[in-house]
Amino acid sequence: RHAGLQPYFEAHELLKKFYHHLLVNTKDGQEALEYLLARGFTRESIDTFQIGYALDSWDFVTEFLQKRGFKAEEMEKAGLIIKREKDGTYFDRFRNRIMFPLFDQNGKAIAFSGRALGKEDVKYLNSPETPIFNKGKILYNFHLAKPVIRRQHHAILFEGFADAIAAYRAGVENGIATMGTSLTQDHISLIRRNAQSVTICYDSDNAGIEAAFRAAGMLAEAGIEIRVALMPDGLDPDDYIRKYGPEKFRNDILGASLTLMSFKFHYYRRGKNLQNEGDRLSYIEKIVSEISGLEKAVEKDHYLRQLAAEFSLSLEALKQQMAADAPKKG
Ligand code: GTP
Ligand code: MN
Ligand code: MN
Ligand code: MN
Ligand code: MN
Repeated sequence: RHAGLQPYFEAHELLKKFYHHLLVNTKDGQEALEYLLARGFTRESIDTFQIGYALDSWDFVTEFLQKRGFKAEEMEKAGLIIKREKDGTYFDRFRNRIMFPLFDQNGKAIAFSGRALGKEDVKYLNSPETPIFNKGKILYNFHLAKPVIRRQHHAILFEGFADAIAAYRAGVENGIATMGTSLTQDHISLIRRNAQSVTICYDSDNAGIEAAFRAAGMLAEAGIEIRVALMPDGLDPDDYIRKYGPEKFRNDILGASLTLMSFKFHYYRRGKNLQNEGDRLSYIEKIVSEISGLEKAVEKDHYLRQLAAEFSLSLEALKQQMAADAPKKG
């Protein structure tokens, strides 16, 4: 690692510790701590993930860093402070937020995501891209999950890092999350180097299901075996664990995850009324096209029979449809 980056790492390490201290030991952090505890965060998980609190101040961090000899221009590049156009002075980027350090693979803090306590415009404020932080390369909790993932050859992929933390509390230690971006090729190669299979466990709202569909396609393309776990009623994993408990999450959600093809059945069915002839035909067409993309003849046969049985169709007709479909896919 380049020696010039040392101040960037040091500033994050120092601030991480200080934010954590403010949260757990001070009156200023009390409201934030109560918010977290009310949300089901335990003291233990607050320690494990080194969660902290940034004061409601415009210059606390600016002065904190200056006093310790950090150069303001560098700390601006580190994303910790922001320069005022009009007079060239600086102010704190993160104010009155719950601070989640983001770690690199070695567990070094390299950025922050700050959550608003209430319903503010910006729920999560992330560090910008910096010389030490690239959002598209970071998977939340990867530094803790990596040995577990390697042992199990399996990872659970969440949409939000709050979900990865909730899962960890629920005894699921191979959970990772993207930082609010969609999955990148860098994420995928990181996953592929450590896991053979992935369970996608995104939020069960519309955005989450669409994102899960895209992520599933990308991961499958990379040769990773996919399962998809769905929650009821638009919940996310954190909501679900709070509502139904860790055991039901592990057994009824993760344990009942769908194969990729079953997830696709579910995906194409959403918002459709299969009693309606038009909806039914377009659904069947989608599924046939998915089946024709399968590699194994046995799988093709299996799903075609399943489809034929469900809609009282002849296997022959489905096979013809599939043959007609093939050239379209090129
Ligand atoms: P909670 O509301 O605290 O439970 O968060 P969540 O994990 O349920 O968040 P949500 O499902 O809304 O979003 C998933 C992920 O998207 C989060 O972990 C963030 O990384 C990212 N995200 C959500 N809201 C924002 C935002 O306002 N700004 C940015 N930059 N990222 C966001
Ligand atoms: Mn602590
Ligand atoms: Mn979401
Ligand atoms: Mn969510
Ligand atoms: Mn949530």
